[in-house]
Amino acid sequence: MEIRIETAKEKKTKPEDDKLGFGSIFTDHMFSMDYHPETGWHAPRIEPYGPFRLDPSTMFFHYGQGVFEGLKAYHTDTGGVQLFRPLDNFKRMNRSCRRMCIPEIDEAFALESLKALVKLEKGWVPKTPETSLYIRPTIIATDPFLGVRASNTYRYFVILSPVGAYYPEGFNPIKILVTREYVRAVRGGVGEAKTPGNYAASLLAGEKAHQAGYTQVLWLDGREQKYVEEVGSMNIFFVIDGELITPALNGSILPGITRDSVLALARHWGMKAAERPIGIDEVYQAHGEGKLEEVFGAGTAAVISPVGELNYDGKIIHIAEGGVGPVAKKFFDAIMGIQYGREKDPLGWIVPVTD
Ligand code: COI
Repeated sequence: MEIRIETAKEKKTKPEDDKLGFGSIFTDHMFSMDYHPETGWHAPRIEPYGPFRLDPSTMFFHYGQGVFEGLKAYHTDTGGVQLFRPLDNFKRMNRSCRRMCIPEIDEAFALESLKALVKLEKGWVPKTPETSLYIRPTIIATDPFLGVRASNTYRYFVILSPVGAYYPEGFNPIKILVTREYVRAVRGGVGEAKTPGNYAASLLAGEKAHQAGYTQVLWLDGREQKYVEEVGSMNIFFVIDGELITPALNGSILPGITRDSVLALARHWGMKAAERPIGIDEVYQAHGEGKLEEVFGAGTAAVISPVGELNYDGKIIHIAEGGVGPVAKKFFDAIMGIQYGREKDPLGWIVPVTD
């Protein structure tokens, strides 16, 4: 498919890198294409960034039939721009599409069009260490209709946002509240799909956590509220007695690409790593025995985020003396090193956009 390109007549002023924050500044252009049952995905276009005109009855507004992704473009020291495992994002997007009854996209075309967009916007990729261009591919149901069924038509779009750290703490340890009051996902539900409803479902617990002085919520399983699942904005890892442990994917946990990268690097380095169910009681017991060495989150937006404090039912534990542990630091340095082209890419994750 040929991509139609309409460039913006007026260009926005780019912010200073130290004023970026996360997710509130958008570049000059966006990519869109539409789906119709007779034509499939069609009309791919790069056009000036701007609002959509959508009928108030648009099905996405009413039933949340949609999926999204998150990945980043990085500026290298040699002046190039590169992507990290972009095809894995498009593969996951298609898995989310299947769960949400949305027609799949062509992964190779999604990558080609993303490269074209990022190339056009390369001047927006910030250069300061630890900043990047966050990429948000999204699909929404667009039939103007009020009955509950899968939509016939859809829009796919990609917007770009230059970003700094996701958490205001940066790479400093965050405090996490373990909730039993709410659950994020249930067995047989949509927990493993990257769909907006999962995030809407997390808001109230997140607000309560903020009010109590915590950055995020750690979700337990929806069935027994016994096993650790994820943080919502990232997957979770524990280092217990020298072993790296993360909850096994069970249908209600998001299969994070940074999660997978941590596991793949750990195996590449010969580090002991397990994906298995892990109970919150086991975490607390390990802490009691002095074996809980580190806890950290892993996600595209959050990268590697050390956890310094957990609060479960009012029982507060401090991890790695509230500091950054060596394992979290090692993954942070290795993943960022690959993403920014400072280190070799031993597992073939980098896709260059410009040299
Ligand atoms: C990401 O890590 O890219 C996500 O989509 C998580 C979101 C909470 C920012």
